[in-house]
Amino acid sequence: MKKLALDLNDVTKTFQKDDGYITAVDKVSLQVEEGEMVTFLGPSGCGKTTTLRMVAGFELPTSGSITIRGSDMTNTPVNKRKIGFVFQNYALFPHMSVYNNVAYGLKARGEKDKDIRDKVRDALVMVGLVDTENRYPSQLSGGEQQRVALARVIVMEPNLLLMDEPLSNLDAKLRIHMRTEIRRLQKKLGITCLYVTHDQSEALSMADRIVVMNKGKVEQVGTAFEIYSNPQSLFVADFIGQANIIHLKVTSLAEDVIGVQTHNGGVFSARCIIPDHIDSSVESYEVGKDAALVIRPESLTVIPYKGGEETFNAVVSSSVFVGSHVEYELTLPNNEMIKAFIPYTNNMQIFKEEEQVSFMIDPVNALFLPRKKNKP
Ligand SMILES: Nc1ncnc2c1ncn2[C@@H]1O[C@H](COP(=O)(O)OP(=O)(O)O)[C@@H](O)[C@H]1O
Ligand SMILES: [Mg+2]
Repeated sequence: MKKLALDLNDVTKTFQKDDGYITAVDKVSLQVEEGEMVTFLGPSGCGKTTTLRMVAGFELPTSGSITIRGSDMTNTPVNKRKIGFVFQNYALFPHMSVYNNVAYGLKARGEKDKDIRDKVRDALVMVGLVDTENRYPSQLSGGEQQRVALARVIVMEPNLLLMDEPLSNLDAKLRIHMRTEIRRLQKKLGITCLYVTHDQSEALSMADRIVVMNKGKVEQVGTAFEIYSNPQSLFVADFIGQANIIHLKVTSLAEDVIGVQTHNGGVFSARCIIPDHIDSSVESYEVGKDAALVIRPESLTVIPYKGGEETFNAVVSSSVFVGSHVEYELTLPNNEMIKAFIPYTNNMQIFKEEEQVSFMIDPVNALFLPRKKNKP
């Protein structure tokens, strides 16, 4: 059987903070295949950096285990793990040339001069910095410095490449350029990479799989498509892309289908997600209580007011034409606000503010998500 590049098993990290404790990482389990690119996405403070630092060995887990290529490394020191780490601040040696920065680890490892020369050249070609060998970090742009940091790490041929918000210090345009380059390089080298970011487009565009974290826990792991089209929790639906959440009264419950009362007395049914990994924290739905219906703004159809039972009703509170589509904000009878993005077509009808409208939801694109306990 093929060995996993990384196997995290119930990894937990508790820090002492003020008078108490804080669980920065809470039973994180994850299996990463060789050559996979996995991004960690979540709000600030959700435990991304701490997870990466434990994989690298800068922190030891409070409990749980870390296996790298089949060997238990939970308590192995950093320098025995063969891991490359690229940080947000490039951490280059300012008094050393680019060549010496990249060669540093190889020299420390006692490799032959000729091998070092070849490897450094190859690495610099790889990151597109052939002619900069003799320059110093201060003579390079931010993007170039980050490439040197990357070359310095890949030259060591690590088992795992860990990157913690490596592009945060670069301007928006360069960030987008660099993300494509890093991804291309990662694929070319076939290197396994864990990449932390709080930027969702970065996380979605670079990854084979994305780990969405919240408050130390893994909320969901999946491809960009899976996470966008099948969010397993309200947190993920809300955090990734834009999502409308409408609360409606449950009228019927089947195994994984919920029926709700629309504002006109009609009935609407859609799939209900039952996540397997957070059961105990989930409140089950009951007939007569509210359920949270999740729908993307681009999955609504806005039509002239109908008032029949097949539609939902709303009042337009804002209507903005942005070229490719019209962005509506609609106020529902219970004062909930939702967004609708309607793609531009010739002769499309554009509704105005304060107009009464109806809207339709395609059940295929709608989901009922479980509600966490102890939350309003
Ligand atoms: N060395 C530490 N001592 C105490 N608390 C820490 C330490 N490192 C991180 N934390 C806390 O752990 C939580 C997770 O932090 P971190 O992993 O840096 O989150 P992220 O990288 O997702 O922003 C935060 O609440 C942070 O304040
Ligand atoms: Mg961080």
